[in-house]
Amino acid sequence: MKTNRASDTAHAGAFIRALESTVPAQKRIADDQYAIQFVKPYLQTILRMCRRMPTLQRGLTWVLDRYFPTVVADFICRTAWIDAHIEQAVARGIDTLVIIGAGYDTRPLRLTCLTNCTVYEVDHPDTQVRKQALLGSSLRPSHQFIPVDLADQKELADCLPQFDKPVFFLLEGLLGYLTLTDVEKLFAQLAKMAPMGSEILFSYIQQSFIQQSTQTGYPKRMRKYLDDRGESFRSGLASETLPTFLASCHFQLLANINPLDYATEYLKPRQRQFTLFPIFGLAKAVRVEN
Ligand SMILES: C[S@@+](CC[C@H](N)C(=O)[O-])C[C@H]1O[C@@H](n2cnc3c(N)ncnc32)[C@H](O)[C@@H]1O
Repeated sequence: MKTNRASDTAHAGAFIRALESTVPAQKRIADDQYAIQFVKPYLQTILRMCRRMPTLQRGLTWVLDRYFPTVVADFICRTAWIDAHIEQAVARGIDTLVIIGAGYDTRPLRLTCLTNCTVYEVDHPDTQVRKQALLGSSLRPSHQFIPVDLADQKELADCLPQFDKPVFFLLEGLLGYLTLTDVEKLFAQLAKMAPMGSEILFSYIQQSFIQQSTQTGYPKRMRKYLDDRGESFRSGLASETLPTFLASCHFQLLANINPLDYATEYLKPRQRQFTLFPIFGLAKAVRVEN
């Protein structure tokens, strides 16, 4: 990440969620009415126009999907998928959520199931400062911010309380920006902190896509967009080796989907169309005995 600058990719995520929130309710996949406040003022103006002009919203979504295929669908469908998994975890009795690389995640504000839960947001200090400044005093005491640069040697466990009952760790849109060494270190630390039965939900970039991005077309375009912003993809994971990787840090894989899986669950029922490539992954695992 560029020094002293909030994450641009976190901003892009907030913009896409805010754009999706302007879609008429019967076609909307994810709803994040808080996202707009994190978006730059000129884009806020465009978003307000999208609310009044559905053709503008559709046109903008179409252009983004052409330029960065799969990205828009991935952001909005994974939002819905993760929301549902958090709701199920809370219904099972989990009352602590740790969001690592939180960016402009607004779940603590918008998911009513989290009202009585404790939420820790861990993120790079440069992104967190901007988020806290924009949120102002609207935070409740059980929603805590913990600034950590995961590329530092610091132990995450030293920054979080010791957990004595299962927690839910969310790592959305984070792992690709860390080196493989930092990803492995992060999972090892989470395994140490997570009581048995804790759940971890994470998105990842397919390793094969990181290799493709040195070539041509949209993979190269995506790489350039990220490189220009100082937020290059640094690592990917391979779907096939995920169970072994997780087992090595005492997690058992429960679910593993890719953007092609979004079509039946989210897109077709709402007659929405996006370009989908299996370049990302979304997985959930549970902490098992050592
Ligand atoms: C693409 S954004 C994802 C934000 C949010 N989770 C979402 O899905 O919209 C990437 C996030 O990772 C965080 N991040 C990147 N490198 C990091 C690091 N070394 N330490 C801590 N956070 C980091 C950024 O600050 C940013 O919030």
